[in-house]
Amino acid sequence: MTSAWDAWWSEHHPPQFPTDSYLELEESMPKDEPLVYVPPTPDIPPLPILHGLSLTIHERLKYMETQAAVFKVTLRLHGQQKWAILKVYHSDDPQNTEGGPLLPGREIFNRESQAYANFIQYGLCRDGVVPHCYGIVGFPGYDLIQLETTAEDEDMFGPFRHDNNPPIALLLEYMDGMKCLKLLDLTENLGNEILKQAVRIHEAHVLHDDLEPRNILVGADGRVVIIDFGSSASYPDPIATPPFFRAEYRGLWRKLFIRMLPDKERILRGEEPWDIISVHAL
Ligand SMILES: Nc1ncnc2c1ncn2[C@@H]1O[C@H](COP(=O)(O)OP(=O)(O)O)[C@@H](O)[C@H]1O
Ligand SMILES: [Mg+2]
Repeated sequence: MTSAWDAWWSEHHPPQFPTDSYLELEESMPKDEPLVYVPPTPDIPPLPILHGLSLTIHERLKYMETQAAVFKVTLRLHGQQKWAILKVYHSDDPQNTEGGPLLPGREIFNRESQAYANFIQYGLCRDGVVPHCYGIVGFPGYDLIQLETTAEDEDMFGPFRHDNNPPIALLLEYMDGMKCLKLLDLTENLGNEILKQAVRIHEAHVLHDDLEPRNILVGADGRVVIIDFGSSASYPDPIATPPFFRAEYRGLWRKLFIRMLPDKERILRGEEPWDIISVHAL
C-alpha cells in the first residue's frame, strides 16, 4: 500500500546527484512539510522518577562544563544487566559566562525531559524514532543510586560532586551499534528516512532546534534515531508550532540534499567539500 508519505514524496522527489547547481536544487526544495497535525493533548504525564537503581558508569561520552555529561552505564534490573545512557545535568546557575551565555544545565534538563514526556505520550519511544526514556534520576546526597565507576584513573562523576545544588539526570536507552551520521554514509534514502523521523518529532509537538549530524544516529541497517533534545521546545512554547516545524523541516532538507549530498559527490570525485557541516560529518 502506498502511504501518504510515499505519494507526497513522489511529487517532491529530490534531484539526481551529482550536480553543483545550488540554484537548481533550491528550486526543488519542498514548500511544505508532510505533517499530520493533531492538536496537542493537554496534561501530558511527567516522566517517572526512578528510585533505588543500581548503575555502574563505564565511560563518559561527553562533558560540557556548567551543562551536562553523557555517561555510558550498565543498569542492573531484575537480575539482568543492560547498557544505558545516563545524561546528567548541572543544577547550579553557571558562574562563568565567558565566551557568551550558555544554556544552564537545568534549562537543558527541562527541555529534554519535556520532549521525552511528549515522545512517550505520542509513541515515538515505542516506535524507535528516539531512544526509550526510563525516567528521571535525582541525586539528593547521591544516595538514590549506587554510582560505581570502572575507570581507575579518573572520577568520571567528579565534575558533579561539588555542585551546590544536586544534579539531575535522565536515564535513556543505549542505542547499541548506532553511530552519528557520517557524510559518506548519506544517501537519498537515508536522507528521506531522517526527514520522516523529524516529521514524527514535530507531530509530537516538539521542535528539535539542533538537527545536526552528531544528533542523528544511524544503524548498519539504515535505521535512524534522533537524540539530544537539550535545545528543543515543546508545546505550549510558541516556537513548537507548524510554521517553525516547517522551517526546521526545510532547513533539514536543505542541509541533507543541498549542502551534504553534493559534498559527498565532490569527495567521491576527489574534490574538496564546500560546506562546513560536511567537514564536521567526515
Ligand atoms: N541514547 C544514546 N545511545 C547511544 N549513544 C548516545 C545516546 N545518547 C547520546 N549518545 C552519544 O553521546 C553523544 C552526546 O549526547 P547528546 O545527547 O548529543 O549530548 P549533548 O547535548 O552534550 O550534545 C552523542 O553525540 C552520541 O554519540
Ligand atoms: Mg549533541
